[in-house]
Amino acid sequence: MCGIVGYVGHQNAETILLDSLRRLEYRGYDSAGIATLFLANTSCQTAIRRAAGKLENLREFVKQNPCQGTIGIGHTRWATHGKPTEKNAHPHQSDPITLVHNGIIENHLQLREQLLSAGHQLKSDTDTEIVAHLIAAEKKNNQVNFITATRAAVQQIRGAFALAILDENEQDTIVCIKQACPLIIGIGQHENFIASDFTAILPYTNQFIILEEGDMAVVKKDTIHITNFDGVEQNRPIKILDWSPSVAEKNGFSHFMLKEIFEQPLAITDTLRERLSFIENKVVLDGVHLDKLKHINRICIVACGSSFHAGMIAKYQMEDLVKLPVELDLASEFRYRPVLVDAHTLVIGISQSGETADTLAALRHAQNKGALLLSICNTLESSIPRLCHHSAGTLYTRAGPEISVASTKAFITQIVALHLLGLGLAQQRDQITKNDIIEHMNALLQLPTAIETVLQEDSLIQKIAQHFVSSTDMLFLGRGALYPIALEGALKMKELSYVHAEGYAAGEMKHGAIALIDEKMPVIVLAAQSHVYEKVVSNLEEVKTRGGCIVGILDENDDALKSRCEFSIHIPVVPKSILAPVATVPLQLFAYHLANAKGLDVDQPRNLAKSVTVE
Ligand code: AGP
Repeated sequence: MCGIVGYVGHQNAETILLDSLRRLEYRGYDSAGIATLFLANTSCQTAIRRAAGKLENLREFVKQNPCQGTIGIGHTRWATHGKPTEKNAHPHQSDPITLVHNGIIENHLQLREQLLSAGHQLKSDTDTEIVAHLIAAEKKNNQVNFITATRAAVQQIRGAFALAILDENEQDTIVCIKQACPLIIGIGQHENFIASDFTAILPYTNQFIILEEGDMAVVKKDTIHITNFDGVEQNRPIKILDWSPSVAEKNGFSHFMLKEIFEQPLAITDTLRERLSFIENKVVLDGVHLDKLKHINRICIVACGSSFHAGMIAKYQMEDLVKLPVELDLASEFRYRPVLVDAHTLVIGISQSGETADTLAALRHAQNKGALLLSICNTLESSIPRLCHHSAGTLYTRAGPEISVASTKAFITQIVALHLLGLGLAQQRDQITKNDIIEHMNALLQLPTAIETVLQEDSLIQKIAQHFVSSTDMLFLGRGALYPIALEGALKMKELSYVHAEGYAAGEMKHGAIALIDEKMPVIVLAAQSHVYEKVVSNLEEVKTRGGCIVGILDENDDALKSRCEFSIHIPVVPKSILAPVATVPLQLFAYHLANAKGLDVDQPRNLAKSVTVE
């Protein structure tokens, strides 16, 4: 995934572009670049500045080589085609066209051959550069204008693409294209902004147009004209976003991840707001078309990464609440299988970004087979909620923008939203008593406070993490609802500390993985009170007798088990229905502090991006 920005107005474009890109770096950070149009004497010219590595490298380069002009585009890259070098950094150019791109051009090889045989000189290894050549060729060969040439070129490309395009001969215009990758327009006073997401341009405006599939926008400083690729007018509403700019900043925390971990109580409170009715003793699922779900006879959940782990917790909980079979699939697997779903199947897509290509494709696959679609999402009006809009809708988490690549508050609020959904489906099917509904709602109300209690262990967790800075392997063990949390804890450790960590069902250890245990192997055991507590204690002893170094995640009053662990982190005793999110927080902090102690880039770990909008 990459981040693209654009500006046209009365201010210095370079300043706006670099500032906006800073808030998009989480989308990809292996190279960056900007381009502006400016008048030199009487002719319009293009300035391009690019640098490999972090945005800071580009900033330094631009300091020495500033760009003029009040119109421009910018890009921060997560490489898909071509190594992260200056040559492959965006913007890419084919005179007079310059552009930036997020996504993948799937037929780029065929187009590359076509252009090379027509005598074009391609300077990079990217798929993106091809689009600039296509537009320039359309202009030159058919003697048409910028907009017509762009329309013709876009009809030739397949794949996922959000594009922002400049033409040196049209110094007041940016053309934007949206196909399967997010792109929004921010509306200012005699200036307009373009970005991959809201947070990039939040300091400049809170009025946005969200481009839809197949939109082409011609953006000038005072006008925005939207059509489809065939030139047919499209009306898009202006949306007001009530997020303050500070929401996208760190507010004194050293990393976005730590800020977002500490925001979890508030994020949960926001996600629960107006969804627990103690007057009618029921949950209220705004945005979900429950009436369409009366006749479902099974549920499938599709997601990736942490969202998949949230789905695992939902499977355990929803089957118990709704009394329907709940299957769970990695979206990247589901989308390529001849899955048995039909009009009586509810397929739930879980996604923080709402743009994950595999999850979007899995939902489309299910839709093509007649299934009902519902999404749990944290990003308003992104592609996945829009796909589910005409089916069973979306239950939004209200975690606010999650900037750090590692998902924390979004993950926790996904668990909460899925819990609410399970209660809503159970009450619709008369599978739950009023007392049980009230018990679950009261448990959910306890969650913010319970997590606040765990957050107070932060400095202890930091001390424990520092003991493991030289560990190269790690095991996370859990049973029942804590097995998905063991997987999530391992994923956090992998993606932040680059430690080879594995999450394992504690009962599965004796079937092979126990051979890994020795005194060098830290084993994090989730041993909070549950119906399988004694079994977990046995597993912990099996590890201990083989010399494993145990970090226990224990109930606050479990002194007996504490004596069996080298280190222990205590969590409050809570109702079992909210144990999973509470037990997650120590593992988030453990991975954060270990990565920090190793001096790694916590918010932008190597090789990763916040949302994987490519296959
Ligand atoms: C989680 O820490 C990772 N950043 C990653 O696994 C993420 O959960 C996954 O890519 C799914 O993203 P989504 O929720 O935006 O679909």
